[in-house]
Amino acid sequence: MYFSQSILAVPVLALLASNVVAIPHRRDTQSRPDNHTLNRERADAVKEAFTFAWDGYHKYAMGHDELHPVSNGYGDSRNGWGASAVDAFSTALVMQIPEIVDTILEYIPTINFDETADEISLFETTIRYLGGLLSGYDLLKGPLSNLASNATAVEAILAQAERLGSNLAFAFDTESGVPTNSLYFNPSRTGGGTTNGLATTGTLVLEWTRLGDLTGNKTFSKLSQKGESYLLAPKPASSEPWPGLVGMNINIKTGQFEDAFGGWVGGADSFYEYLIKMYVYDTTRFESYKDRWVAAADSSIAQLASHPSSRPELTFMAMYDGKKLIYQSQHLACFDGGSFILGGLVLKEQKYIDFGIALVDGCEDTYSSTVTGIGPESFRWVTKDTDPKDSRNPQPPADQADFFAKSGFFITDSSYVLRPEVIESFYYAYRATGDQKYRDWAWNAFVAINSTARTGSGFAELKNVNAPKGGGFNDFQDSFLFAEVLKYSYLIHSPDNVWQVEHNGVNQFVFNTEAHPFKVAGPPI
Ligand SMILES: *[C@@H]1O[C@H](CO)[C@@H](O)[C@H](O)[C@H]1NC(C)=O
Ligand SMILES: *[C@@H]1O[C@H](CO)[C@@H](O)[C@H](O)[C@H]1NC(C)=O
Ligand SMILES: *[C@@H]1O[C@H](CO)[C@@H](O)[C@H](O)[C@H]1NC(C)=O
Ligand SMILES: *[C@@H]1O[C@H](CO)[C@@H](O)[C@H](O)[C@H]1NC(C)=O
Repeated sequence: MYFSQSILAVPVLALLASNVVAIPHRRDTQSRPDNHTLNRERADAVKEAFTFAWDGYHKYAMGHDELHPVSNGYGDSRNGWGASAVDAFSTALVMQIPEIVDTILEYIPTINFDETADEISLFETTIRYLGGLLSGYDLLKGPLSNLASNATAVEAILAQAERLGSNLAFAFDTESGVPTNSLYFNPSRTGGGTTNGLATTGTLVLEWTRLGDLTGNKTFSKLSQKGESYLLAPKPASSEPWPGLVGMNINIKTGQFEDAFGGWVGGADSFYEYLIKMYVYDTTRFESYKDRWVAAADSSIAQLASHPSSRPELTFMAMYDGKKLIYQSQHLACFDGGSFILGGLVLKEQKYIDFGIALVDGCEDTYSSTVTGIGPESFRWVTKDTDPKDSRNPQPPADQADFFAKSGFFITDSSYVLRPEVIESFYYAYRATGDQKYRDWAWNAFVAINSTARTGSGFAELKNVNAPKGGGFNDFQDSFLFAEVLKYSYLIHSPDNVWQVEHNGVNQFVFNTEAHPFKVAGPPI
């Protein structure tokens, strides 16, 4: 959906301040402020970074989960199935780099998903491996079939996804149907534990439903939807302090929540993300998921929106413990702007887009305020109403008082571990508005990452985003550098195409939380 020029000319803050008058919507492409045209120079620069990182991984770590980009060693933190290769697949596809696509296409059929000596995370395995496989299959069977150099290998991708799903399915074999996240193979058994988290339980349903739809085996879909059903109708009532906003820990035996602590933060985040994405995936089957997203979004605007005392024009979202607000947020939480914008686009509700844009602005501030131009892992703020004695909402430490006065937040974890969420939300903001500003912000973030985190063979985590040179490296390059950071950095500057959000005003693909685009099953909205 695109706005007319005259609406776009009104500054966002004025819109927010004007008591949010209903704005008429037009989804016709005539009213686009910009044509989502290619910025070749920038798109090519991101492609260069991806190819460089792929070459380093391929040379030193191919088949392992991740490169150690300082020592040129490797690690296997995701069961040794080649997480970086699978995570890079859909990015190599949308960038249309045949050599890398072919290498990964040849590799995937060789992965032995029956064996691993290590603990398996159902959630991580689902979003990275199942997500990467299903997305690669959707793209190669659909709009990128020109890159399907080996039809047998393409079919093997889906067979591998089905094999992995079958191997993991016992996770759902619990008294309630809420899955266990910690698993082992040979013999198949769980790592124990009586609870599962909100995000780890609530970020399976898109991948497992897509697996069920593609294979025709609806057991996959049913298992994940049964687990999710407890999250959609939370019990006890005390675990839902405001409509749609819930706690973080679910009892595996009863399906009941055990707390009322939460927010749009790590551990909860992609549960909310998937409520609206399931609706985008299929409006006919997942209307009730949308209703829960709307409840959570409305409650968040009313209860969680928060403005730091030193920069009241900024908007962050607070966390909560029951009805007590905690003024803390994270890089991970910065997906929230994108989620509100996506919800506003598909539901044609301007208030969600406006709020999403305000959140995007706040997250941009966490980038533009630091020495490196990259935002920190976690941060806090206080509001004009914060009691100085409130131990849950401490005042900024003395050595960050000036920083808080200027920036509106203070840093509680200064690392940057190659996370994508801020650039991801810039992408949604750009797709919704066509405003070049978001392209410039994404470009600034990419240039900062490229100049600060780049090593001889890839990209490394930074110890301190607010110190020169990022305070030094940690020798780790998580697979989501390939899946997410470089994909969103590229897509925002790349030509319009069917996998892009709001392509010609509708969504033919929906991105899983690891940024793997899945073909939507229902009529595109
Ligand atoms: C968008 O396309 C229209 C019609 O082709 C053209 O007149 C206009 O200049 C383009 N706008 C931008 C920002 O490229
Ligand atoms: C195509 O892929 C299949 C399955 O991975 C493989 O066995 C076969 O050798 C490949 N064919 C070619 C020509 O590379
Ligand atoms: C569908 O998948 C489930 C879970 O892996 C499996 O138990 C069942 O045998 C499969 N059904 C068919 C028809 O393949
Ligand atoms: C990224 O870093 C490389 C290596 O320093 C450099 O050659 C390239 O120009 C950089 N890209 C951008 C866009 O700054």
